[in-house]
Amino acid sequence: MTSLRDGRVIVVEDLVVAYGTAVALDHVTLQVGAGEMVALLGPNGAGKSTLANALAGLVEPASGTVRVGGRAALIPEGRQLFPDLSVADNLALGGWRSGERDPSAVYDVLPRLAELAGRRAGVLSGGEQQMVAFGRALMSRPSVLVVDELSLGLAPGVTADLAAHLAGLNRSRGLTVLLIEQNARLAFELCPRAYVLEAGRVVAEGESAELAGDPRVAGAYLGGSVA
Ligand SMILES: Nc1ncnc2c1ncn2[C@@H]1O[C@H](COP(=O)(O)OP(=O)(O)O)[C@@H](O)[C@H]1O
Ligand SMILES: [Mg+2]
Repeated sequence: MTSLRDGRVIVVEDLVVAYGTAVALDHVTLQVGAGEMVALLGPNGAGKSTLANALAGLVEPASGTVRVGGRAALIPEGRQLFPDLSVADNLALGGWRSGERDPSAVYDVLPRLAELAGRRAGVLSGGEQQMVAFGRALMSRPSVLVVDELSLGLAPGVTADLAAHLAGLNRSRGLTVLLIEQNARLAFELCPRAYVLEAGRVVAEGESAELAGDPRVAGAYLGGSVA
């Protein structure tokens, strides 16, 4: 894997992103090392998707730097599938950049997708659609995966299944993951390290175990103390 200096694969420094005059990211600095799973927590409107889109090169910084080493893929918020296309065709669209057309390696990781291959994406359940978005991201053989709201709208069991797949890829292949989540419990369980973003600023960062014990973080994101 290509990594940047010091083995870091995501380096965001002093990043400012604005929509017109509205500042969505206000001097954000964060790093993710090769093979790490790091969570990004924050309420609606905090700027999480803006950061994901900046990492994917979809929004332009006003100032600061965004560097991603290796091949990055994004699972965008709300999946963004083509509902009238089949699962197989949605997967194929994920391979356009890498030239990968054969989904068999993705089916090895997510065997359920092989069963769903001929179905229209739009008729699938939310969990199945998230799995298609996951598989589509894997088609580009990423070394870094940015997941924008894994659990959004999904039943806990379905989320747990997808989370287990993510953790498995991290363990077996060293896939680097930035997991954007509103479910702090899930994020802290899955990721040893986390950042908290509020109103475009990083307001807390550190080991998940420590953050979970921080009364301000616990109060806002875990529904009170976790003691
Ligand atoms: N395309 C856009 N145009 C204008 N404002 C936007 C756009 N996308 C997001 N915003 C605003 O930027 C802020 C951060 O949004 P977003 O990054 O989507 O936050 P989050 O993903 O944490 O909910 C919000 O105030 C949102 O309304
Ligand atoms: Mg968002």
